[in-house]
Amino acid sequence: MAKITSLFECTACGARYPRTMGKCGACGAFDTIEEVKGSLRKDLTRSRSAFAQSQYSGPVPLLDVETSDTERTPTGMAELDRVLGGGVVPGMVVLLGGEPGIGKSTLVLQWAATSIGNVLYASGEESERQIKLRAQRLGAENPGIHLFAETDVRRILEVAEQMKPSLLLVDSIQTLFDPDFESSAGSVSQVRGCATLLTRWAKTTGTPLVLVGHVTKDGSLAGPKVLEHLVDTVLAFEGDRHHHHRLLRALKNRFGAAFELGVFAMTGKGLVAAEGNPFFLDAEPRPGCAATVVLSGTRPMVVEIQALVASAGLGIPRRTALGIDGQRLSMLCAVAERRGGVQLHDRDVYVNVAGGLEVEDPAADLAVIAALTSSATGRILADKCLFMGEVGLTGEVRPVAQLPLRIQEGARLGFERAAVPRMGLEGGKGLELILERSVERLRSKDWLKAKAEEAANEDY
Ligand code: TYD
Ligand code: MG
Repeated sequence: MAKITSLFECTACGARYPRTMGKCGACGAFDTIEEVKGSLRKDLTRSRSAFAQSQYSGPVPLLDVETSDTERTPTGMAELDRVLGGGVVPGMVVLLGGEPGIGKSTLVLQWAATSIGNVLYASGEESERQIKLRAQRLGAENPGIHLFAETDVRRILEVAEQMKPSLLLVDSIQTLFDPDFESSAGSVSQVRGCATLLTRWAKTTGTPLVLVGHVTKDGSLAGPKVLEHLVDTVLAFEGDRHHHHRLLRALKNRFGAAFELGVFAMTGKGLVAAEGNPFFLDAEPRPGCAATVVLSGTRPMVVEIQALVASAGLGIPRRTALGIDGQRLSMLCAVAERRGGVQLHDRDVYVNVAGGLEVEDPAADLAVIAALTSSATGRILADKCLFMGEVGLTGEVRPVAQLPLRIQEGARLGFERAAVPRMGLEGGKGLELILERSVERLRSKDWLKAKAEEAANEDY
């Protein structure tokens, strides 16, 4: 039988084929299958010997497995610790993904600067000089940081083996290559191979490891799902819609809650924790504005939902949503019209989340309807009031998760009242809570203040 000497690999998911094909059978992507240089045979032997190398010593009774919670070491950056679940754990492998220029290298350098002990910063992207200049600008010249501009993963591991750092940073995983395998750096098999080697080293030595990864155009990590399975924690670094802030999100975390959110601002001196509540602008009350508290992970954030209801020209009225889901807005418009008695069928509707946050939390539904009602009637909503609740198709206001936490955050920012669903009345201190069962009552005098004729209306 003829030996298989080359193989083809999907650049999106890493599935392998003996010949090229137009469509990947595993992930369904078109035109992603490319030939990988090097032999299948070599690759298979390597993965087998890699198994033999790992320090596997047989099963252990669950009760005998040692754990200790005190092993968590804070990184020194509060927002980062929040996202990691309180700090780093020995042997933790973190994948930090983000678009070019979003600030990944800045974040890892600051992480290195606040870490205790020796840090090995392996960079395949920048020279030592470039990193030094950045460190000077950031005031991040920790004597424990050791820079190593290298792309050969075996060399990095050799150096790490000697140095025994307390943290290993790799910027970025796509620039590394393993000379034992012949495909080019950045290919799925190289990325996977290098990440596997580094991960195994981190696990056996108990060293925390951070891998920086680029995201592709469609937002997924390049060499994508393969890496997400390998690592313990996947952090996505992204901007808000206006790129004023940098959001660090845990998409997966074996050592803490997923979907935790950290908020930074990029300044001349690098990344700093965003102060107070960055997404809420305490502006004059106007018709069409309603405040709510959304949760991202365990982080409550007050945001302002703005609605504008304007008469439509001829044709189909528009529904434009910025920062919330368009389908959800269409549904809420229908509910507001049928159950809340707000005439919208011949009006254009625009809804925007002020501050640039993307809101997925259904607790904002009630605020969207309140803002629509307020804009349609030209009346401002009650002062210093929050609207929280998911809204169903019958107009009923449904419970939301973690209401006490949201109420606490609202009270901290000076709100006095909150419209909440039935389940919320027990929890939460600091706000006057008003039960809302249905959106019908939003038009009542309790919520809408007298026509704001003097102030707002004359602007139009
Ligand atoms: P960088 O960390 O190089 O991004 P990445 O590694 O994700 O590609 O960050 C680059 C951007 O950050 C760059 O556009 C300049 C900006 N920046 C600041 O605004 N202030 C700073 O102190 C630093 C170091 C960078
Ligand atoms: Mg970089």
